[in-house]
Amino acid sequence: ASSASPKITVIGLGYLGATHAAAMAELGFEVLGLDVVPEKIRLLEQGRAPMYEPGLDDLLGAHVAGVEGSSGRLRFTDSWAEIGDFGDVHFVCVNTPQKHGEYACDMSYVDSAMDSLAPHLTRPALVVGKSTVPVGSAERLAARIAELAPAGADAELAWNPEFLREGFAVQDTLHPDRLVAGVRSERAELLLREVYARPLAEGTPFVVTDFPTSELVKTSANSFLATKISFINAMAEVCEAAGGDVVKLAEAIGYDDRIGKKFLRAGIGFGGGCLPKDIRAFMARAGELGASEALTFLREVDSINMRRRAQMVELTRDAVGGTLLGKRVGVLGATFKPDSDDVRDSPALNVAGQLHLQGAQVTVYDPKGMANARAIFPTLGYADSALEAVRGADIVLHLTEWREFKELDPAALGEAVTRRHVLDGRNTLDPEVWRKAGWTFRALGRPTA
Ligand code: UGA
Repeated sequence: ASSASPKITVIGLGYLGATHAAAMAELGFEVLGLDVVPEKIRLLEQGRAPMYEPGLDDLLGAHVAGVEGSSGRLRFTDSWAEIGDFGDVHFVCVNTPQKHGEYACDMSYVDSAMDSLAPHLTRPALVVGKSTVPVGSAERLAARIAELAPAGADAELAWNPEFLREGFAVQDTLHPDRLVAGVRSERAELLLREVYARPLAEGTPFVVTDFPTSELVKTSANSFLATKISFINAMAEVCEAAGGDVVKLAEAIGYDDRIGKKFLRAGIGFGGGCLPKDIRAFMARAGELGASEALTFLREVDSINMRRRAQMVELTRDAVGGTLLGKRVGVLGATFKPDSDDVRDSPALNVAGQLHLQGAQVTVYDPKGMANARAIFPTLGYADSALEAVRGADIVLHLTEWREFKELDPAALGEAVTRRHVLDGRNTLDPEVWRKAGWTFRALGRPTA
């Protein structure tokens, strides 16, 4: 790069890419984004995020060219030639879902992004992979770029995994806990330091390493988080058997700061587009590397997680008298976590779906996830509010811990239902408040009364 600021492109404009593109513009860079889905580009060009993510619309509006009062630093295109022409640093942010019917990760979006980009790398450029990939991918992709790029050795790859959480994407991108750079040259490291100068100046740790370590940092971090959740959910199972209270238990062990309080919320478990598929892809990759024994515990992490969904279904069935047939179930929450509209591998929607398949009449309400839920599960009932979802219900299930649900008035809700019976699948409702309002309250991993 010259003395002028490097020009940035972002390829793939989902949760990761749209946020990264807006954040790069916020940091002062000229940014050009590309996605192969025209609808996404159309929304982004109006300064609107293609998904619900707190603060992202504002950040886009502040920078997308053509939006009134914006910096104009963020633009979009569908042309690979324009991307190649424009960028000094190309961030590849496409998704890597689970392969259909297999544990392995589907690399086709990453592969095709690299294959489309490489022939247009006509001048020195750094391609930076941010997608979550199986270890060994960066090495393979670097060879592919070297083969396809006209600029030859002057087009280089770096790996820079991303750790943002949905619901906190903007904050996590602008103020990350750490930055990780898998690099093969000093030039690549310096260019990344330049791009991330602001967070680095704020003291963000910068871990420089090789390709495989940088890829593994990401998958091992998500595996650790998944393990922590399944650990506390395993304790919930034991609490259920022994009459203990997992919420108290988590609080008490969490005071030990070697253990820590975070990610010890017992409930129906983890979902979303990352943790479930990442631990499976990690197991599949370890198998290919002949290291599957090292990760057999992740199989257990996965089963504990799936068992919690089944337990929720069973508790519901027991609570309504042994059969779900014709029973009305009001479901609060559809997204895999609050402050997101994402329903990918959502435990809430999975539980609702299982109840429906067992003959219950399920009505779902979610503050932001309704359109996505309807799209993948059109046969469930949907209501426009929590109150409407529980109207006439034999039982109410709290499955995604939106703030709105914590603030519900159990007395008012009690007027709408047929039976005041609530199951808390996220352990964030206050049992005392509900019981006082005449509800039978049960929660995963907690005593019955
Ligand atoms: C996760 C990681 O937290 C991010 O660091 C990572 O960058 C991201 O995956 C990714 O790989 O892209 P995210 O999927 O947004 O982020 O969601 P989390 O906040 O990790 O929650 C995942 C699931 O675990 C949710 O379903 C949540 O309800 C559940 N969870 C979380 C629990 O059941 N208990 C907890 O204590 C915490």
